[in-house]
This record gives sequence, C-alpha cells and structure tokens, in this order.
Amino acid sequence: MSTVVLIGAQWGDEGKGKITDFLAEKADVVVRYQGGNNAGHTVVADGKEFKLHLIPSGILYPGKLCLIGNGVVIDPAVLIAELENLAAQKISTENLRISPRAHVIFPYHQRLDRCEEERKGARKIGTTCRGIGPAYMDKAARAGIRVADLIDPEEFPARLEDALQEKNRLLNQVYGAEGFAYAEILAAYGKYAEIIKPYVADVSIIVNEAIARGQNVLCEGAQGTLLDLDHGTYPYVTSSHPVAGAACLGAGFGPTKINRVVGVAKAYITRVGEGPFPTELKDALGDHIRTRGHEFGTTTGRPRRCGWFDGVVARYATRINGLDCLAVTKLDVLSGLEKVKVCTAYRYRGELITEFPATLKVLAECEPVYEEFPGWAEDISNIRRYEDLPANAKNYLARLAELARTPVALISVGPSREQTIVTQNVF
Ligand code: IMP
Repeated sequence: MSTVVLIGAQWGDEGKGKITDFLAEKADVVVRYQGGNNAGHTVVADGKEFKLHLIPSGILYPGKLCLIGNGVVIDPAVLIAELENLAAQKISTENLRISPRAHVIFPYHQRLDRCEEERKGARKIGTTCRGIGPAYMDKAARAGIRVADLIDPEEFPARLEDALQEKNRLLNQVYGAEGFAYAEILAAYGKYAEIIKPYVADVSIIVNEAIARGQNVLCEGAQGTLLDLDHGTYPYVTSSHPVAGAACLGAGFGPTKINRVVGVAKAYITRVGEGPFPTELKDALGDHIRTRGHEFGTTTGRPRRCGWFDGVVARYATRINGLDCLAVTKLDVLSGLEKVKVCTAYRYRGELITEFPATLKVLAECEPVYEEFPGWAEDISNIRRYEDLPANAKNYLARLAELARTPVALISVGPSREQTIVTQNVF
C-alpha cells in the first residue's frame, strides 16, 4: 500500500494521462496537485477517447476517489463543462472532491494572460492563455479568490468587487484593454458556485486518512519538470511546480508519506511554446515524429516541437524529482526509423556538459552530443511483454535508463490501457 507521485520528466505532454489511467486501476485515490486547465490529458478507455483538463483521469474507473488539491487553480466554467461531458458519457463524478483552498480563475486572469503575452511581443512565453499565470500571481500576492470564498455568498460579492476594481484598472490603464462588468461575473460565478459546492471537501484530510488506512494514493502531476517555476527553463515555464515535491504542498500531506516517484518521459521529446530546445529536429524527421505521434496540443491544438530523447534532461529530472523509475511512452512512434539518436551530453563552447545548465543563455548555445542506434522496423503496438520487443528497441530502452540513472518500469506502445508493458510493479 503506497503513495506514488507521477510527474512529467520533460517539457510536459509526456503521456501522463495514459500512465495515470493505467496506474489508477490499482489506486484508491487519485489527486491533482498543481496547474490548471493548461494541462490536457487524453485518455483512451474501452475504445473511447476522453479529454480531461482538470478532473483526475482516475474518474474513468468507478469507485476511485478523485481529488483536486489546494495547489490547483480552477476555471469553474471548464470544470463544469468537463463534469457535463463525463455525465453525457455516463461516467459518474460523485467521487470527485475539490479543495476549498484551491484558487479560482476568472475571465480577467485570461485577458491579463493574453495582454501580457502581447506586451512581450517577440519575448512572449507562449502560454496557453488560460489565465494560469495571473491566477498564481494573485495567489502569491495574497489577492486571490479561493473556492471557499466562491461558495460563500456572504464573502464572494465583496471579494469579487475588490478584485475587479483593481483588475479593471490594470486592464484599462496599463494594457489599454476592456474591463469586465461586475454584475455579469457575479451572476455567472454564482451559478458555478451552486454546481461546485457539493464537491467541496477538505482534500488534505481525505488524502491523509487514505494513507493512514493503507490505501494506494496516486498523485498526478501536470506539465513537466522543465516547466517548473524553479527548476524549469525560466522564464519559459509555467507558474506552478510540476515536480514531485510539490505533491505534498498541493495536496496537503508530508514528504515522509511518499513511497515512490515515477517520471513519465516520451521515447523522444517535445515542447510547446517558446524557449531553447537543444535536440529539436527542425527537419522532415521532426515533421514525421509530429505526425506519427499526433504531437498537437490537447489544450490549444498547437503543433509541438519534436526532437531526440535528451539524456541530460532525463538525468536532471531524476535528480530534481528523486525518480525511482521511468515510464517511457510512445516507443511505437519511433518504429520504422532506420536510425534513432539519443543525446548523452551537450557541447558548450567546446566544453562537454553533462548536467542541465541553469541559464537559457548557456542552454541556447548547447549543441547535443548524440549516440546513434540502429532502429527497429517491426510494429510493436501489439507487444505486451518486454522479452518480445525487438532487440534494437530493448537496447535503446536500456540506454535511456542508463542515461537517466533510473530503471524503466513501464513502456507504452500505444494510447490504450492495454498497450502497456510492465517490467516493474509501481504499486
Ligand atoms: P501557462 O502554463 O499557460 O502559463 O504556459 C506557460 C508555458 O508552459 C508555455 O510554454 C506552455 O506552452 C507550457 N505549458 C503549460 N501547460 C502545458 C502542458 O500541459 N503541456 C505542455 N506545455 C504546457
């Protein structure tokens, strides 16, 4: 019985949704602890495709408790659309619980996100424009509105009025943009509050009780290590902490309770948004991986930049998150390539670098040092046992594990639950 934290070991979009869904079968509780609807998880269950942004993918299994922790920022309109969508597909959401301490995203957060991106021009972050950054800014500024305030009819109107006064001034006077009408937001969010209220419960208590009962708890990270506010490629990062340590903070339990940390990494690497990317393939091969891997954002539909697996990044993710093992996803996408490459180190101004640099200035000048492997022609999407993988695919995986300095526990060879090879049990 254990608490497992699952995180993205790259720049997000590693296939965490699929792995969470796979592991959720053995979990009693699944909890989201950071980010918001900037995340997008595509899960294929029983031949049906589900796109989830906020609700933990454990919801697709009946009877699992699914929690949205205090560290998440919630856009109620998106949450409600997701609830309705699941209901339409006959998926029960009665086991969903939402922390009263989670912060709420408002339309002014989204507009401010967009205005700030426009102001930055060529230096823009390439955010999802979902208002995530501005909502976390309010949280840190101690000016945010939390779920507890939203569902309190005595508290909410005054909080909103106060926030809106400041935000409208900011929008009008700093950005020259339109503000929002108080009555409209009050009415819309009043309705949202009614729908959300039955789901609100103290997530920290629920998680700690589950741990005390010896149940399996799965903490589902969003985004990835290189998008972490502290450890990522700052400033091209998100405003929360996708790393494993943040699970404690964002769900409300102590570090002594974590038993295992799983890093999800694609067999190659992708990134959306701006910023340096040493192993990026800007050629036909990059296009091939993008098309074969369906590398287009679940949230924004943006094409993802694609490149070879980066061993320096993998090692960094192991160090920052204390990874116990890797789940390697989308190995099937590389089938049919004559040769596959892996980056083992960077060359910076003639010097060999084996650890991920702290500044973008250095990263932008890093040239990848590659090792080349013979590829495998076979379609591996129907393979279920490690032994049955082509020898070249096994060699490739072995090298990824060596570079990451952590073993591979799971290998995903396709989007469905069944297309998963287990070499080590996670729970
Ligand atoms: P924000 O989280 O919308 O503020 O965006 C900040 C950066 O994180 C941008 O580069 C986004 O493309 C990236 N980002 C945010 N969420 C995800 C995700 O779920 N997958 C991949 N990239 C993401």
